[in-house]
Amino acid sequence: MSHAPGLSLVIDTDTASDDAIALLIAVRTPGVTVKAVTVVAGNVPLPLAVRNAIVTLDLVGGAHVPVHAGLAGPLLRPLETAQYVHGDDGMGGATLPDPSRVADAEHAVDVIRRIAHDEPGRHTLVTLGPLSNVATALLIEPDLLSRFRHTYLMAGAFDGVGNVHPLGEFNVWADPEAAAIVVDAPGDKTFIGWDISRRYSVMTPDDQSRLAALAPLGQFAVDINAKVNEYVAEHGLAGFDLPDPIAMAVAIDPTIMTKSQAALISIGTDPVSRGGTIVDHRFERGAPNARIAVVVDESRFKAMLFAACAD
Ligand code: BDR
Ligand code: CA
Repeated sequence: MSHAPGLSLVIDTDTASDDAIALLIAVRTPGVTVKAVTVVAGNVPLPLAVRNAIVTLDLVGGAHVPVHAGLAGPLLRPLETAQYVHGDDGMGGATLPDPSRVADAEHAVDVIRRIAHDEPGRHTLVTLGPLSNVATALLIEPDLLSRFRHTYLMAGAFDGVGNVHPLGEFNVWADPEAAAIVVDAPGDKTFIGWDISRRYSVMTPDDQSRLAALAPLGQFAVDINAKVNEYVAEHGLAGFDLPDPIAMAVAIDPTIMTKSQAALISIGTDPVSRGGTIVDHRFERGAPNARIAVVVDESRFKAMLFAACAD
């Protein structure tokens, strides 16, 4: 594994089942510090997402990590959750302990801004949910992302195949106006889309057995994805996929992303294009505003996951 020395992450998450595994990987990968977890509504309503983040951190050795609640819904639209994918509780109906604490008092938007200000260039931002918190911070402070070392986003569908809309991947679709603000903000950013998840992070029955054998954390990872596993079976995947964990893995070790490309991305916000991440392929296009992951090494991603779940 080759991650930047002293890698320190700020993680923005709408914590449900796959976000939880991304938190597990971040907390349990040697040499990675999780500076703060900021929570946004998305997969589940905000209070549930906060609860799931705290319960997960308790279980994976991250009880010391500050957790801050942020926006309870998108900038301009009503919240539409993905509980039909992740279960009513967002955690597949798994039996889990109660959270050890409530969220810290400071608002997520203030935390993201404060950390970026206190130590510019020091921390890496990883977003795993709708971009409402980050966009709000950017409305206050347009150069915010330039103060992070890099921003990695689980967002988009760069093959044009959405998961909740013909073009739209959930995190972009849920708050497309927020995504439009983020994609045009200055600062280095890499998008890891649902196309990457579908191709390189599907947990086959064999993978799931191997993971469950790594009890208790591997079993936790399997249990909380029970509902996703049922859902994807009806949609042609060989097992649950892990969009947020594979994005986290790229953030921790960008060398597992074996191919990427600079792209000029715009975001669909009208009913037909909602949530689409539209790449301008014209010869005389404008300057790129992001990188997108094209190929990720599946076996290295899974090795990172298994190592994080092992004792
Ligand atoms: C994204 O949406 C959510 O269902 C997952 O947590 C992930 O962040 C995938 O489209
Ligand atoms: Ca998520």
